[in-house]
Amino acid sequence: MCGIVGYIGKKNTKEILLSGLKELEYRGYDSAGIAVLSGDDFSSFKAVGKLINLEEKTKNFTTDSFAIGIGHTRWATHGKPTELNAHPHIGESSYVVHNGIIENYAQIKKELENDGIKFLSQTDTEVIIHLFEKKLKTTTNAFEAFKKTIEDLEGAYAILLVTKNEPKTIFFAKNGSPMLIGINEENEKYFASSDSPLIGQCNKVNYFDDGDYGYVTEDTINVYNSAHKLKKLNLLELSTNKLLAQKDGFRFFMEKEIYEQSSVISDTLMGRLSDDEILFDELDKSFFDDINEIKLCACGTSYHSALTASYMFERYSKIRCSVEVASEFRYRKPLMDKDTLFIVISQSGETADTLETLKMAKEAGLKTLVVCNVDNSSMVRLADACILTRAGIEKGVASTKAFATQVVVFWMLNLYIAKQKKTLSSQEISKQISLLREVPSSVKVKDTTHEKIKRLSKRYLYGHGFFFIGRDVFYPLALEGALKLKEISYLHAEGYPSGEMKHGPIALADPELFTIALLPKNMLYEKAKSNIEELSARDSTICAISATEFDKADDHIMISSYDNYMLEFFEMMVVLQLLSLEISVRLGNDVDMPRNLAKSVTVE
Ligand code: AGP
Repeated sequence: MCGIVGYIGKKNTKEILLSGLKELEYRGYDSAGIAVLSGDDFSSFKAVGKLINLEEKTKNFTTDSFAIGIGHTRWATHGKPTELNAHPHIGESSYVVHNGIIENYAQIKKELENDGIKFLSQTDTEVIIHLFEKKLKTTTNAFEAFKKTIEDLEGAYAILLVTKNEPKTIFFAKNGSPMLIGINEENEKYFASSDSPLIGQCNKVNYFDDGDYGYVTEDTINVYNSAHKLKKLNLLELSTNKLLAQKDGFRFFMEKEIYEQSSVISDTLMGRLSDDEILFDELDKSFFDDINEIKLCACGTSYHSALTASYMFERYSKIRCSVEVASEFRYRKPLMDKDTLFIVISQSGETADTLETLKMAKEAGLKTLVVCNVDNSSMVRLADACILTRAGIEKGVASTKAFATQVVVFWMLNLYIAKQKKTLSSQEISKQISLLREVPSSVKVKDTTHEKIKRLSKRYLYGHGFFFIGRDVFYPLALEGALKLKEISYLHAEGYPSGEMKHGPIALADPELFTIALLPKNMLYEKAKSNIEELSARDSTICAISATEFDKADDHIMISSYDNYMLEFFEMMVVLQLLSLEISVRLGNDVDMPRNLAKSVTVE
């Protein structure tokens, strides 16, 4: 998740921008930059890596009079983390910083290149500054040019733009990515992606709405809505708790990350869906030629998304698929054939076991792909190709949005392959693309569901353990639900195929054994139902998660009714995440930093 700051005032603009970016470090980034306009002086600095590198580059730069400035921390989505790809992006006389994804950037870029514009970076953002300067040539003033630029953009954005043509003005636009403006008694103006950089600097803030755009000078703030009507500011008191601000008011980063899955999955999908096909800029069209088998390899939660993907590869892409636990695979002296595509899945891109298996596959001459959340990580640098999940930084040790975005990427990837190999009809592909577009709403947390889970969780604090059971893709989801609970509540839980309970585990059934049963309407409902009835008949305490009431369950968490099992999958995923969260809260555990765990296991 990128971070944006802006400032108009008489203080040391560089220091204000850098300290604002420091407050946004929690959002995760791999490069940063600032641009400062003071009178006729236009300075810009960019650096890869941590902010200390940018501080080093700017140590001899200062401003001691009125100036305007913009700053940015970048989390790579299009293009590697390099200085050229870092923001601000520069035109002939302007700078821009942007958070979000410009969905139609490729088409705009092509038109601008046809006009002879030379692009320096691989980013989508750079099209904004060149489009603005193209419009500047045919409009009466900078604001008109900015307004026309915004009208041409599709996708999610929070934009700050400065130009020598209006050296005392910051132009802004917000749609889909967060941004706010803060003011204080010293007549200073502060912009930021979230309120933590403004705490201590401002006492009132205005959170921009989608479609808002406008311009700010030392004395005026002009905000227009999407209907181009001037609108009044909605000034609110600013909170004073920085950590709470970084958690956006949630109790834990994990809770925040569960709630932001909807917007994050929209980012994952952004620019990759047309009505009848999936677009992966990062893959050559021939990437899957000569591939007859796929082997997936990962650890922990990423292993569960790999298991989920394996059902899709055989169901949609009709490619034989196997899944390996990395720590087992690396010591097994496995057979590896050159027509096998080796895919590693990793949120961090640094997990030692998974990284080693990637090296083994490359040494064996296999084609490799990584599905990862951190650009420029070891696995991204090593694999032949990479698909980024765009989940933004995941601070909770217990993975949530990373898992969700991995599954979304694999669903898209299978439709991409199915189109190429014609293993699904065009109609089926279009239908599934429409379903993909519904995923963000299927993971939106319903207050009633969260409240129900908060109340229900008190019943599941003590017992001799949990079974999470499911069939088909709901089996890896059951594994994931069990892992979430173990990780943050320290209660024992097992994920199990529903159909396997009768082969031994049912001997454990009694009222102290809690079974969380995934009961999708659209996937083997009757089979799963009868497995649960077997447990209920032996007095196991059952919590059913389904779209329909189930009289044999002691508890029931209702989900919405869908016509497709994958939308049930995503809504049940959120229920399982919240259930583990609320049980952990009741047990008084550190949800974000559970005992014995690390966010990235870079050792064996
Ligand atoms: C998931 O909640 C855990 N934090 C852990 O299992 C994690 O998924 C595993 O260590 C793999 O990490 P990676 O995705 O960064 O490779």
